[in-house]
Amino acid sequence: VLTLLMAALGGYLVGSIPFGVLLTRAAGAGDVRNIGSGNIGATNVLRTGRKDLALATLLLDAGKGAAALLIARAVTDSDAVAAIAGGAAFLGHLYPVWLGFKGGKGVATFFGLMLAAAWPLGLVAAAVWLLTAAVFRVSSLSALIATLVTPVLALMPIAALNLPTSNSVFLLALAAMTLIWLRHFDNIIRLIKGKEPRIGAKSA
Ligand code: G3P
Repeated sequence: VLTLLMAALGGYLVGSIPFGVLLTRAAGAGDVRNIGSGNIGATNVLRTGRKDLALATLLLDAGKGAAALLIARAVTDSDAVAAIAGGAAFLGHLYPVWLGFKGGKGVATFFGLMLAAAWPLGLVAAAVWLLTAAVFRVSSLSALIATLVTPVLALMPIAALNLPTSNSVFLLALAAMTLIWLRHFDNIIRLIKGKEPRIGAKSA
């Protein structure tokens, strides 16, 4: 029980670091929450016009999910505990205590988690995002599609995906996907209305 609590708390704290807010502020690019969609993620950081900050936000938000999961796995040698630490990091990103529990949408962190949990699955998920983004050029749409297919892929007995034998990866992907979809409610409405901005457009 103590191990689980430590994994959950440690994961939450790592995940709750709001890199998008910290980086834009530190770079004097203002508070990312006041521009575009108001989200703290890389897509919205890109709307400041700073590609470098957006890339750093993407990598750090993904990295914190991966780090939480990998550290927990290294310490406990358990896929289940690793998934709990990763899930807690995901919740930390969505509900960071430092921002009054108003965090991000979890897409970058989701990819970091999947890459760490089962890298071939993470690569396929990322490839789906990139491919759909190349076609449609809308970040939220790619996130919705890529996250939706990931738990389905995690269920499939595809040897090449190299999944752990436990269900932890599937459950993590399913739970995270569900929260990501709920977080994209406004995006979904804008997509339906044809008003969702394309990647890199400066206003949302
Ligand atoms: O990663 C979040 C993305 O899917 C949508 O971001 O800022 O367009 O709401 P945003």
